[in-house]
Amino acid sequence: MITASAPAKVILFGEHAVVYGQPAIAVPISSLRAEASVEPANELRIRAADLVSSAPPASSVDEALLQMAQLVLETLQIASANFTITIRSQIPVASGLGSGAAVSAAMGRALSTALGHPLDNATLNALVYEIEKIHHGTPSGIDNTVIVYEQPVYFIRNSPIETFAIRKPFTLLVADTGKSALTRVAVGDVRKLYEAQPTRIQPILDAIGTLTKRARQAVESGDAITLGSLMLENHQCLQQLTVSSPELDALVTAAVSAGALGAKLSGGGRGGNMIALVTPVTQSAVTHVLLQAGAAQVFATTVGG
Ligand code: PMV
Repeated sequence: MITASAPAKVILFGEHAVVYGQPAIAVPISSLRAEASVEPANELRIRAADLVSSAPPASSVDEALLQMAQLVLETLQIASANFTITIRSQIPVASGLGSGAAVSAAMGRALSTALGHPLDNATLNALVYEIEKIHHGTPSGIDNTVIVYEQPVYFIRNSPIETFAIRKPFTLLVADTGKSALTRVAVGDVRKLYEAQPTRIQPILDAIGTLTKRARQAVESGDAITLGSLMLENHQCLQQLTVSSPELDALVTAAVSAGALGAKLSGGGRGGNMIALVTPVTQSAVTHVLLQAGAAQVFATTVGG
C-alpha cells in the first residue's frame, strides 16, 4: 500500500484581493493533514468516508476526486488504474483551511507513486489547480501552491512562487465559526460588487495589497505587534468587501478583548475560520473567550521555527 499526505493551510493576508492580482500570504498547517492510501484492486474505486459536510455537496467532492485520478492518469499517459484509493482527512471541509486542495494533492501523490511515476511538485500543483476550479470557479491558485509546496508563500497570481523567511516563530489560534460557507459564492459576490462599483472597490483591493506587503516585512523582521495591527486592518477591508459575517466579527472582537495582538477572518469568509495572533501569555485567555463567543473549535498552530 502507498500512502501520501498534504497539509491544511491558512491565509494570513490578502484573500480575495489576490484574485485581482494583489499579493497574499499563506502558510501550511503541517499538524492538520489529508491522507490518501492506494492499494491494488480489480477496478478504480475511491473511498472518502470522512469527508462529510453540508457544503459542498458530497457529489461534488466525489466528482473532484474522480477528476483528480483521471488527470493523474492522463498526465502519466496511462489508460486505466485498478486501485482502491482511500482518503482520510482531519481538515474540516468548506471552512477556509484548504481541504479540497489537500485531499487532491495527497491523492495525486499517492496515485502517481503507486503507478511508478511520482509527480514533481510543479506538475502536481498544476493538476490540483485544475481541481480547485471545480471547487471555486476562478481560484487564484494560492491554496494549491501553499499546500503542494508545504512552505510559507508570498503569492501573486501568475507569478513564480516566492517563499520568505520567518524571523521569529509566532502562534496563531484558528477558530471555527461552525458555519460552512462556499468560497465560490463569496468570490462571486465580490466580483459582482467590483463590477457594480469599481471606483469604490479598487482602492480596498489596493489597500489589502499594501497591508500584505507590510505584513511580509513584519514577519521577516519578527515584529508581532505590527503584524497584529495589520491583521485587524485587513479584517476591516474584508468587512467592506462583504465577506465577513456576524460570527466572524464576534470572534475577532472577542480575541482582541482578551489580548490577541490581532485577528481576522481567513480564507473565503462568510463563515469558516478566523485567526488570532497570540503570545504564550495570552494564548489560553484568548482560546477561552473564543469558545465563549461561539467558536465550534479552536486550535493553535505555530508558524515558522
Ligand atoms: O476559502 P479558501 O481558504 O479556499 O480561500 C480562498 C481564498 C480566496 O482569495 C478568497 C479565493 C482565491 O482563489 O484565492
